[in-house]
Amino acid sequence: MGHIQRLRRTLPRDPPSLLDLGMGRGRDLICFARRGFRVLGVDLASEAIEKGERRAERLGVAIRTVRADLRSYRPRGRFDVVYSNGTLSCLPPELRAARFGDFQSATVRGGIHAVNVFVPGPRGPSPPDEQGLPYRPGELANRYAGWEILESREIDFPCHYRGGAPHRHRLEALVARKLD
Ligand SMILES: C[S@@+](CC[C@H](N)C(=O)[O-])C[C@H]1O[C@@H](n2cnc3c(N)ncnc32)[C@H](O)[C@@H]1O
Repeated sequence: MGHIQRLRRTLPRDPPSLLDLGMGRGRDLICFARRGFRVLGVDLASEAIEKGERRAERLGVAIRTVRADLRSYRPRGRFDVVYSNGTLSCLPPELRAARFGDFQSATVRGGIHAVNVFVPGPRGPSPPDEQGLPYRPGELANRYAGWEILESREIDFPCHYRGGAPHRHRLEALVARKLD
């Protein structure tokens, strides 16, 4: 989130619009809304969306949400920021070119994407849990050919999902700007 805040003054419009792909319970979405972004959150899970909506209402923050499956979701309108944390591994490899193409088309020129995906961990594949279908190392950056890559890094972190054997995950995180 910090990187988007830092880049805010470079975004084409103010207040900026932001699309959160996989908003979950709206943790990040609400933070962006509190900072003045015009936000739209997408998720497959109605329960998570409703929790986010209730929390936003309690806080007096305006958010918009849509229940949709990212495997077929095509955004309406154009956004200054497309953000996704921990979700895009739900896209099977054969859908990724089309889905990323749609998300990129729905971004204004000069807008940014700040997204991350799971890649095989430091010790190879990790036990199956909710992390979905990992990307090949470098695949995410390759999907942003023709964009300005502002940041690209790997993040390793421990996972104790549902009390299973402790293991580690690796995320590839990218921040990129649309050039034209
Ligand atoms: C690990 S959570 C991340 C939530 C949030 N971005 C965060 O950082 O707290 C993954 C989210 O992806 C959503 N999700 C999984 N598959 C999806 C799909 N095919 N379409 C839309 N959302 C999906 C889940 O419902 C869940 O809320």
